[in-house]
Amino acid sequence: RTHDLAVVGGDGIGPDVTAEALRSVHAAAGHFGFRVTTTAYDLGAERWLRDGVALDETSTEKLRGHDAILLGAVGDPRVPPGVLERGLVVALRVALRHAVNVRPVRLYPGVESPVRGLSPERCDLVIIRENTEGLYAGGGSTVHQGTDHATAVQNSINTVAATRACVGYAFRLARARRRRLTLCHKTNILVEAGKLWTGVVEEIGNDFPDVAHDYVHADAMCQHLPLTPERFDVVVTDNLFGDIISDLGATIQGGLGLAASGNIDPTGANPGMFEPVHGSAPDIAGSGRANPAAAVLSAALCLAHLGEHAAALALEAAAASVLGELRDRPDSTTGIGTRIAERVREVDLTAL
Ligand code: NAI
Ligand code: MG
Repeated sequence: RTHDLAVVGGDGIGPDVTAEALRSVHAAAGHFGFRVTTTAYDLGAERWLRDGVALDETSTEKLRGHDAILLGAVGDPRVPPGVLERGLVVALRVALRHAVNVRPVRLYPGVESPVRGLSPERCDLVIIRENTEGLYAGGGSTVHQGTDHATAVQNSINTVAATRACVGYAFRLARARRRRLTLCHKTNILVEAGKLWTGVVEEIGNDFPDVAHDYVHADAMCQHLPLTPERFDVVVTDNLFGDIISDLGATIQGGLGLAASGNIDPTGANPGMFEPVHGSAPDIAGSGRANPAAAVLSAALCLAHLGEHAAALALEAAAASVLGELRDRPDSTTGIGTRIAERVREVDLTAL
């Protein structure tokens, strides 16, 4: 088996953490007997500063042809905010029809959570976020700008098609896990969108009688998630609530250096794009202090998506094992990456 990966390292710490993720992927490929080919793409701040291009049509079409994409992070103090975040990352999510964003929230043994007394066995859930619609993706306009009557309108469009794609993915994932799904929304206030989401969960839930489903308001979720994460297995939610609660999830699991994500076209027609949740961290870029674990864990999601389940588990277990040691044995970006890659070959797959 050969998997053909596109690599967009991007800016700041992006290329460094991506290089460490690839080190682990290659170690896993060697150990589990598959091949990985990589093609690097020159996209990000340098490219934009050089020729004013955030994402060109040729690159998009080439990226579409790979089995999966590994992305580091983009964003640079020399580039106006949004140019790369919207013009490259969000543009790719839209072009590749990434209707679903996957965000595991797992506390690994030995990692300190800011939630006092939280133990790893109580924190293992996945947030499935709709990735293309809602208030987060909606356009808008402002009328009477600059007057006392200035009024900003921000649109939230919610289609049954995108919601079904997202909820269907979440139910299938729940069936493969602990068979519990929670819809997170604000149906008592956002009544129209709420009815649509609730209806889709009821409808698709009929096809999954073995998966229990319930409902939690987004504001209440901000209390339940840190205090009783054991309540949750798969949480499915809209784009804006997903943006907010997945950052809360990252905090609970020990920080941005540990939070992984995948952007997926649930129809399978386009390659998935896997990226750490963190940005380019210009404040520590080049210092060797970036934790590559989030990038490694994102690569593990990528391997699982490509059907390499043993390798994906090994990568996650190796990253978890090294993360658990960092308090006593801190290390540089390369040091951590090397330790994870070495451990991929010796990790006990039954340990997770
Ligand atoms: P950030 O995630 O880059 O950094 C926030 C804080 O967390 C910083 O103090 C940073 O040093 C720390 N941090 C982040 N990743 C870390 C890691 N792996 N190990 C250790 N510490 C880590 O967010 P910030 O500073 O708001 O944004 C920086 C740039 O990144 C901006 O241009 C922003 O727009 C962009 N960005 C890009 C994203 C993407 O490419 N998908 C996502 C988020 C932000
Ligand atoms: Mg965010």
